[in-house]
Amino acid sequence: MHLPEKVTINEVILRDGIQLEDKILSVEEKQELVNALCEANLTNLEFGSFVHPKAVPQMANSGELYELLKHDEALNLIALIPNLKGAETAAKHGVKRVNFVFSASNTHNLQNVRQTTEQSLERLKVIQKFCESNDMKLEVSIATSFGCPFEGEVPFERVKGIVKQVTELNVNMITFADTTGMANPKQVYEFVKTMKGNFPKQSFNLHFHNTRGMGLSNILAGIEAGITSFDASLGGLGGCPFAPGATGNVCTEDIVHMLHNMEMDTGINFEKLIAASSRLREMMGHELSSYVLKAGASNRKYSVSTEV
Ligand code: COA
Ligand code: ZN
Repeated sequence: MHLPEKVTINEVILRDGIQLEDKILSVEEKQELVNALCEANLTNLEFGSFVHPKAVPQMANSGELYELLKHDEALNLIALIPNLKGAETAAKHGVKRVNFVFSASNTHNLQNVRQTTEQSLERLKVIQKFCESNDMKLEVSIATSFGCPFEGEVPFERVKGIVKQVTELNVNMITFADTTGMANPKQVYEFVKTMKGNFPKQSFNLHFHNTRGMGLSNILAGIEAGITSFDASLGGLGGCPFAPGATGNVCTEDIVHMLHNMEMDTGINFEKLIAASSRLREMMGHELSSYVLKAGASNRKYSVSTEV
């Protein structure tokens, strides 16, 4: 296999991870999670979103959270935005990196941000100018890149056409998101290879949900196709509130465990990551879908029971 030495993990527990949860975390609880992630050297964090508080109440305290975190130079923080108002609110709090989200599928985009894909692409131009004049870095996430729960297949050529328009705006990173876990490894490999071939100068990141159990395989397919940057969510929490059947992201500790076992470095401390996940389980008050939180690492040894 052709594997890279290093892989970058972007933690989305504080945004995608908790946006489907019934329990709404306070800023103090969010800050405690950030501290636990930092302990594990996991410092690339999507810390929240600037969206309508009625649409996603779990994100309503994102600005307040940023005020608490922004002076910590170890953290590399990014916020999701759906429109210019989101960018403006982010700027008011001094946020330096924003991730503009829209969907490749028109129907999902209308459900999620009440715009057509074309309208979102128009918005993006305005947001790009705003970010440039406010010294903010802009990234773009294209949801439903690998399939849509409403429309089914999303043609590759459609996503490629969107990417072409986005690359003309010079964004730092484009994320392809598999919003409801529809991608399979063959599709991911071919998608990424072709996309990289068409846009060799653009950086790409991948965002998978484990809805159908293909998350880790899709990550490996992405790695084989030359991607070294992935989103992940602690404990495997997550999901889009505006996509039917949405479930959790690929679990951070499961990914880190796999990558480390395969001798790829993430810079993350696995034991401390497990401690963070176990704190998250307490905080949310329910089991998490993480495999390694339950099973432990593959080098775990059990002593033989002497009881009869
Ligand atoms: N943050 C907070 N409020 C916002 C906002 C933002 N980014 N964008 C618009 N609004 C407010 C407007 O101020 C207006 O408020 P008012 O009724 O008090 O005047 C109201 O929302 C309607 O404005 P409009 O521009 O017509 O927005 P909309 O109703 O079309 O809603 C979104 C668009 C994107 C703001 C809304 O659908 C949303 O927040 N969706 C959540 C998307 C999301 O987080 N999905 C999960 C992650 S992918
Ligand atoms: Zn997601």
